[in-house]
Amino acid sequence: MADELIAVKPEIAARAHVDAAKREAMIAAEAADPDAFWRNEAKRIAWMREPTKIKSVDFTGDISIKWFWDGELNASVSCLDRHIAAGRGEQVAIIWEGDDPATDAKVTYRELHARVCKLANAMRRLGVKKGDRVCIYLPMIVEAAVAMLACARIGAIHSVVFGGFSPDSLASRIQDSACSLLITADEGRRGGRRVPLKANADEALLTCPTIRHVIVAKNTGGAVEMMEGRDHWWHAITEGEGESCEPERMNAEDPLFILYTSGSTGKPKGVLHTTGGYMVWASFTHQNVFDYREGEIYWCTADVGWVTGHTYIVYGPLANGATTLMFEGVPSWPDAGRFWQVVAKHKVNIFYTAPTAIRALMREGEAPVKNHDRSSLRILGSVGEPINPEAWLWYYRVVGEERCPVVDTWWQTETGGILISPLPGAVAQKPGSATLPLPGVKPAIVDGEGRILDGAAEGNLVLLDSWPGQMRTIYGDHPRFGQTYFSTFKGMYFTGDGARRDADGYYWITGRVDDVINVAGHRMGTAEVESALVAHPAVAEAAVVGMPHDIKGQGIYAYVTLKAGVEPTEVLRKELVAWVRKEIGPIATPDAIQWAPGLPKTRSGKIMRRILRKIAANETEGLGDTSTLADPGVVQELIDNRVG
Ligand code: WTA
Repeated sequence: MADELIAVKPEIAARAHVDAAKREAMIAAEAADPDAFWRNEAKRIAWMREPTKIKSVDFTGDISIKWFWDGELNASVSCLDRHIAAGRGEQVAIIWEGDDPATDAKVTYRELHARVCKLANAMRRLGVKKGDRVCIYLPMIVEAAVAMLACARIGAIHSVVFGGFSPDSLASRIQDSACSLLITADEGRRGGRRVPLKANADEALLTCPTIRHVIVAKNTGGAVEMMEGRDHWWHAITEGEGESCEPERMNAEDPLFILYTSGSTGKPKGVLHTTGGYMVWASFTHQNVFDYREGEIYWCTADVGWVTGHTYIVYGPLANGATTLMFEGVPSWPDAGRFWQVVAKHKVNIFYTAPTAIRALMREGEAPVKNHDRSSLRILGSVGEPINPEAWLWYYRVVGEERCPVVDTWWQTETGGILISPLPGAVAQKPGSATLPLPGVKPAIVDGEGRILDGAAEGNLVLLDSWPGQMRTIYGDHPRFGQTYFSTFKGMYFTGDGARRDADGYYWITGRVDDVINVAGHRMGTAEVESALVAHPAVAEAAVVGMPHDIKGQGIYAYVTLKAGVEPTEVLRKELVAWVRKEIGPIATPDAIQWAPGLPKTRSGKIMRRILRKIAANETEGLGDTSTLADPGVVQELIDNRVG
């Protein structure tokens, strides 16, 4: 079943931007003259000065990646002004659908431009300048897109922090990039509940001396405290501002945003994206992968707090003049038909979501889907984690009625946009495979020593060359950038993912090969959860691994060693779960905690995670070599007391 080939549909190919022949031609053109190819693709965005220098990349030594590096532009002009100039001012840019099904709103390009300019002017008045960092901690409301574009307008670097993160997680991200302004809201709404964003922000700001001003959007009207001199209501501070604002001239390599993401070790890294290459990549991939055509309604269900929201709710669709739908709610509320009710209500043509949502909805049966008209749908997309063939086929058959191609898009925060995915008019799909690289993308599979494997093979997924949307550095820590991505395999970008390539050259992503886990499409460093656990006074040591989870893909399994004299009780277990939620946020909630009097360690003291992963997955048959363990007895003890 997994190798079932789903052919390109002739009716899709006939009018696609890219059919099979075009795809071949693009690959050949890029191979023959990359500079000419990308110089031409760069024309898809608006430049104040067109680039003549196209690509300068070195994956060795200090690592240097530059694209379009004498070009000048402003990202917000590509997303707003030029569409108005082209007569599309009255077209809807953003459809906002509220958590409460009775609420929605439509914002035209002209209105969006005005709102962005007013906020940008207010920010300038507060003293925010080009290069300053601005933290955005907002729910899924139109203001989130306005805030991002207003930062871009004045050349400030935005750092969006997911609204589900705790005060501590927010504070450490603000501190790392020394943000001077925070933009937040009174409260958010999700699944009928309220999220106390301003209260969280107040707590975070106790340890963030660099923040001079806070702009607060009034969303729910819930009561909040406003600190005199520091906090400003959005509506009040923008009220008297003009509806135009001179866009800052940015070099293509000036930063556009920072987005924190989890890695194997240490605290989250500030992934830095710059302006020109990122915008070209966002536009190129959004148009070609979703085969976006003018007038279509496009909906990506991600949150703007993640990279998917940056590239495929805001920058990609707006650069292409699309109508992008922003959804404040969750798939399961008020009922399991919500996604499809929204599709029917707004006549969505392109729908992009995560496997975890598909699996959760699949469990509810076909009725909630079939109760709603989905005839507007043309293309379906998946992102964030491997999609199992069963979920893929359900999405294809039940949701898309075998009419809509499914594009399984593989990419990362670091890659800025999609790298491996079918092009719906050009590439036959296989359920569960991200299929083939986009034109210009050069993946390879290497073994543990970095040897490139040819043909059908399985190993580590790397990229041999750059693409315009690639991250440029880790904010404030360029050595860590080289260390994290370019030192495992010399001269190659290492993704942290494992992959298999079949005889047709199709890629099957097998998941992370490092200590990152993927919980419901959210990236989580096991080290982060461990450090949250050991911060609790009762905990001596903790080791966290991923375990298979039917809906979430992976769940969080924690082995906890208590301090001497502390009793392992059910009350304490619940307390530790609540503790991690409070320290990091609800997305880090452990699914299982096992009391571990001892952890399997090598004689040099290194925890053998391979063994812990196997026990968590209940695959205790072939545990492999345990002879290097300091105390082999702990393994049996852990097996006997496995949780769940
Ligand atoms: C995983 C999200 C399989 C992968 C865009 C990657 C996927 C990590 C897919 C990045 C996919 C993302 N198939 N795995 N289609 N898409 N992943 O940074 O492990 O939040 O390294 O970016 O998600 O997660 P991130």
